[in-house]
Amino acid sequence: MRIIRAKDYDDMSRKAANIIAAQVQLKPDCVLGLATGSTPIGTYKNLVAAYEAGDLDFSEVKSYNLDEYRGLPGDHDQSYRYFMNVNLFDHVNIDKANTHVPDGLMEDYEAACAEYDAAVAAAGHQDLQLLGIGNNGHIGFNEPCDSFIVGTHCVDLTESTIQANSRLFDSIDDVPRQAYTMGIGTIMGAKMILVIANGDAKAQAVHDMCFGPVVPSCPASILQLHPNVVVVADEAALALCPAE
Ligand code: F6R
Repeated sequence: MRIIRAKDYDDMSRKAANIIAAQVQLKPDCVLGLATGSTPIGTYKNLVAAYEAGDLDFSEVKSYNLDEYRGLPGDHDQSYRYFMNVNLFDHVNIDKANTHVPDGLMEDYEAACAEYDAAVAAAGHQDLQLLGIGNNGHIGFNEPCDSFIVGTHCVDLTESTIQANSRLFDSIDDVPRQAYTMGIGTIMGAKMILVIANGDAKAQAVHDMCFGPVVPSCPASILQLHPNVVVVADEAALALCPAE
């Protein structure tokens, strides 16, 4: 794992966007694995700015998102499809037909999840997978549990995740209790993984991801076994990590 220290959120966002931009420039038809949440918003803003400056062309890029709330349609303003449209896809020249987010309304979800994994594999796997990290060490919505679940699946969200995500909903009762998420195997299939983190609420999770034992009670710790992981985090998120 390579750790890149950022001064603050803006610095983290710019550094992360530079890495994604380099990927798109070097391989214009690359496959990006994308994340939602508060952390990547600045990264996406920087990518939009680079596109507007004429430095990036997304016309051949394919994307696969990590996760989606179960039961939310793509036009719901808290759905992850909606988030991606508003924060990135609507502002760059990506072909929406090449963008994929698990369908929150999928009916036969076991078959649909298997198809999602098959589509990621058929696309050649993610050239770059962007990840945020939950306060509890989750990646995607792979919550702390007793085993690493390999494929895309339906998950019960933990109380800590429901609590953390309730800030974006009118009330905590509106937060969906389940989500679809890429599995650990789907994520680990990426050729490169870029984890971004900011703020002191992430400090323990970032420490455990990088320096703790590899255990499913901290799902992000599995990333220690991936050969090509870059972590871009600000000082607050790195506060519990050794200073090199
Ligand atoms: C989002 C996702 C989640 C978030 C994590 C951090 O697609 O997969 O794992 O990355 O919950 O969320 P924020 O960035 O809101 O702190």
